[in-house]
Amino acid sequence: MSKHRVIYDTDPGVDDAMALVFQALHPDIELLGLTSVFGNATIETTTRNARFLAGRFAPGVPVAQGAAAPLKRSAPEPLAWIHGDNGLGNIAIEAGLEAALDARPAHRFIVDTVRAHPGEVTLIAVGPLTNLALALADDPQIASLVRQVVIMGGAFGTDGVLGNVTPAAEANILGDPDAADIVFGAAWPVAIVGLDVTQRTVMSHDYLASLRDRGGAAGRFVWDVSRHYEAFHEQSAQLKGIYVHDSSAVAYVLAPHLYTTRRGPVRVLTDGIAVGQTIQKPSAMPVPAPDWDTRPGSTVCLDVDVPGMLALYEQTLCGTL
Ligand code: BDR
Ligand code: CA
Repeated sequence: MSKHRVIYDTDPGVDDAMALVFQALHPDIELLGLTSVFGNATIETTTRNARFLAGRFAPGVPVAQGAAAPLKRSAPEPLAWIHGDNGLGNIAIEAGLEAALDARPAHRFIVDTVRAHPGEVTLIAVGPLTNLALALADDPQIASLVRQVVIMGGAFGTDGVLGNVTPAAEANILGDPDAADIVFGAAWPVAIVGLDVTQRTVMSHDYLASLRDRGGAAGRFVWDVSRHYEAFHEQSAQLKGIYVHDSSAVAYVLAPHLYTTRRGPVRVLTDGIAVGQTIQKPSAMPVPAPDWDTRPGSTVCLDVDVPGMLALYEQTLCGTL
């Protein structure tokens, strides 16, 4: 099988960092670049973190700086109580290793890279979707040239889960709901791993300790970077472990058979008290719904083989695939 050629659009972010390590170490992924976006922290912080992560785990892979704020709103406050003051769980970030910063803005990097590899590029997007919406505005033709777009974001009500920032909205989609509605409405193949599925997937304290002991430098990094994040989960959700958000998008790319899915167009509410809510009209639903029916279908994940996903991550880090 040919490798997945990936642009990783990210707001690192502890779980973003864990997903980057996953991609860097999996033999079926070739990283073409990282594009940063505001979200878990300011654009300056997420770009610094993306450059640090690429330099340390994916040497030679460039980073392009992306949007500092959503299309139509002001930037949210950094989520320091979740991801630490530095966005990476307050670990020491060594200087000197950082990846080169591409001169182009992220959306232009995306357009140029997709055009350079028509039909081959997978976009894995795990932050607010502003860079992807800007890329579509810059060059709408890229929609037909991308292999697939895999997104961690939104929530579709499985297990009653609809949001983590408000009762109706997940952080990445609420970060830029206008951009998300544009991205879900474009004619490219979109798959969405939402919060209801990523919250079913938990890396326990013991699982993380095992990675630390068996996963070499990458495993020790994952342990170190997740200490603050695990404390947040214990305090906020009484969880002895962490939810696996962004790495779930990577797992979907590598092993889609681990996920149960449903097809149908997805809309995002862009105002009102439920702003940021993601709603799919299942393709099997017979009633007309004009706000959905004119839009392309997306693949929404409804369930996951949790042991399978966790084994894939562990085997990748421990080199036992
Ligand atoms: C998403 O929000 C961010 O805080 C995480 O990195 C993840 O992408 C989960 O809602
Ligand atoms: Ca993220």
